[in-house]
Amino acid sequence: MENIGYYNGTFASLEQLTIPALDRGVYFGDGVYEALRVERHRFFALQEHLSRFRASLAFLRIDFMMTDAELTQILQQVADRVESDSQQLYFQVTRGTAIRTHAFPEKAEANLLAFTRGVPLADLTEYRRVTVLADMRWGHCNIKSLNLIPSVMAAQSAKERGCAEAVFHKNGLVSECSSSNLLMLKDGVLRTAPADAQILPGVTRAHFLMLARELNIPVDETAFTLDEMEAADELMITSTSAHGLPVGFVDDRAVCRRDEALLRKLQKAYREYFWDTLGISDHI
Ligand code: PDD
Repeated sequence: MENIGYYNGTFASLEQLTIPALDRGVYFGDGVYEALRVERHRFFALQEHLSRFRASLAFLRIDFMMTDAELTQILQQVADRVESDSQQLYFQVTRGTAIRTHAFPEKAEANLLAFTRGVPLADLTEYRRVTVLADMRWGHCNIKSLNLIPSVMAAQSAKERGCAEAVFHKNGLVSECSSSNLLMLKDGVLRTAPADAQILPGVTRAHFLMLARELNIPVDETAFTLDEMEAADELMITSTSAHGLPVGFVDDRAVCRRDEALLRKLQKAYREYFWDTLGISDHI
């Protein structure tokens, strides 16, 4: 199959899968999610995604009874039903199905939705364009909640401006992007905003920081300003799907391209780590 969906025990193609209107995810976005890369039906960084997922559930006080092993077994079944060797798998858990009242329903069991489809790995060579927008999100951006309206609106604005991403800032201080983190290279130092409540602690971000340390590239987890961003040697958008995309333009202004050797070194280290961790050596 080309794609597959799963909801509370039922498998169906994405065109046919339905969920109840009273799933609290539908009318409140009352749930959390994760997005994973799957190569040759193996999950990349599953543990990291599961631990962030558990932290998000705990923050929203959602009781999800499944163990990690049970959940993984279902996700594996979802991935295995799709032929593609290169997938993007999504799953979400909502608080349950109940008549709409804002406070938590008395009796409701969490709902699990998952789906996957073939998505090739991103091309890391080309420099991308970003735009800049005020960060209008809530104060808990470290939680991977389903409530993504500010991110949706920002991604659409970016698209309309011909940009791959929108960089968020608060009073001139860069936090991250609409669905990715932003890393900067300046004078040989890899810098990015700290993993506090202003950003999602990206799994990819953490891997890049780890690899930089291994390569003796100094790491600085201090937020940078928009002016500093414009003066960066290199900028990289990082996420599960993007891996590490170079940024070459902020709107119509050409930026970066001042330390391409170091940028490429980090990208290469990441891709090697990606394939090594998956135990796949004969990739293209
Ligand atoms: N987005 N910041 C935000 C706001 C994100 O939504 C994401 C992920 C990231 C990167 O996190 P990671 O490296 O763990 O993928 C940073 C996913 C891909 C999404 O929303 O689909």
